Amino acid sequence: MTFINTETLAGSDLRRSTTIADRQSPPQQTFIDMAALFAEREADRYAMHTRHLNEQMVRVLRTIGYDVNFCRGQGAYLYDRRGAQYLDLLSGFGVFAVGRNHPIIRETLKSILDGELPNLVQMDVSTLAGILAERLVALAPYLDKVWFTNSGAEAVETAIKFSRAATGRSGIIYCGHAFHGLSNGALSVTDEEIFRNRFEPLLPDCVRVPFNDLDALERALHERAVAAFIVEPIQGKGVNLPGEDYLQGAAELCRRHGTLFVVDEIQTGLGRTGRFLAIEHWNVEPDMVLLAKALSGGHVPIGAVLARKPIFDKVFDRMERAVVHGSTFGKNDLAMAAGIATLEVLAAEGLFERAARAGEKLQRAFGAMAERHELVREVRGKGLMIGIEFGHPRSLKLKASWNLLETASKGLFCQLITIPLLKEHRILTQVAGHGSHTIKILPSLTISDSDCDWIIDAFDAVVAASHRVPGPVWTLGKTLIGHS
Ligand SMILES: Cc1ncc(COP(=O)(O)O)c(C=O)c1O
Repeated sequence: MTFINTETLAGSDLRRSTTIADRQSPPQQTFIDMAALFAEREADRYAMHTRHLNEQMVRVLRTIGYDVNFCRGQGAYLYDRRGAQYLDLLSGFGVFAVGRNHPIIRETLKSILDGELPNLVQMDVSTLAGILAERLVALAPYLDKVWFTNSGAEAVETAIKFSRAATGRSGIIYCGHAFHGLSNGALSVTDEEIFRNRFEPLLPDCVRVPFNDLDALERALHERAVAAFIVEPIQGKGVNLPGEDYLQGAAELCRRHGTLFVVDEIQTGLGRTGRFLAIEHWNVEPDMVLLAKALSGGHVPIGAVLARKPIFDKVFDRMERAVVHGSTFGKNDLAMAAGIATLEVLAAEGLFERAARAGEKLQRAFGAMAERHELVREVRGKGLMIGIEFGHPRSLKLKASWNLLETASKGLFCQLITIPLLKEHRILTQVAGHGSHTIKILPSLTISDSDCDWIIDAFDAVVAASHRVPGPVWTLGKTLIGHS
């Protein structure tokens, strides 16, 4: 220690204490070198998680051979201990839109740490939050206000609370196959048994309607007790696209019934589908838009609820209600800076357009694969959110093998594609939900033309191999049946 609090010391005591302290202190450590700590302990990661965290996750990774020990991330890539490069098509479930460890995001965050700004004063308002809010609503000018959160689920919680307060109604409608997060309120509007099971009862008055069904929505809205209809413009689980008129029709029905139209763009927003918001593809202006994931720049958790002014006016209608909603870390400087820097990078690198172009190239190639290979049932998506759905084959040999696998565990077939993609082609990808037959492609928006070729060649090889019975792909299937 080199600093002594002079207020607690006096006269000669000060000189003597300083000398003793200096002589006894260990060598000065200026910071904890996390990269060195990571290198020292990375080999223990699975053991530490088995002992102290979620043991079942370790079992899953080992069973499907995903225990790779990634040691570095840069752009759209991950690197293992030997320095081998992998193309990451999960991008942290959509977090790394601008790529991992983008130099501008990093330098921006360092400038916050070095700037000694008056972060989280609480009894003040944040300048950086003002700037980020201003820039977000400039991209969706029909919205006026922004509420910042620490995650996507927390943005969903906020939308539920604000809708109820703004309308004086309690009902929330959500869609079949929806995913809106796993906190209590968000889970109440998420349609997946495995997530809900054992955590019920959840929030009351949350009603599910089938996605893409305007009649069902109208029936649910009819009694005028519904605060909000919440919907993903493209569903993340399964990569399900709306019918051409669905979102416009839903917005119109909501308006007619006094219900707020809330779009969850937590996965689809910020350029993922080739536009700032996916909803722009269908020319709809929602009452609330939810963002998170990519806004973090891949570094600092953040969520945002963009809303029309009258909604805020109802929630915060007098001074004593100024703090009725909030969270300690919301609007923290690091998160706001990550958001501001992310918007800059998205614009400077033309990433909306790049996502649209790369997405078109990939969809065209996958579409051609679907024509050549009977196991590929459908390819769908927009920009760099693409689903490749596999389905029941027609030929006898394949049918028998498919049935065996699917009887053992629904959706297991997709692992016969994802595992060789990782092992043989160093492509990290996964299925689009539990028991799903759809593999989702959700890479960084920065992927290059040659990355697209890497993806196309790898899928082509693995999908072709999956049509050979007997063959190594189906031998892997037998091993997986054993595990399942
Ligand atoms: C559409 C959608 N909404 C909400 C969430 C929840 O976000 P978070 O995991 O940050 O809580 C997710 C996460 O995958 C999502 O894809």
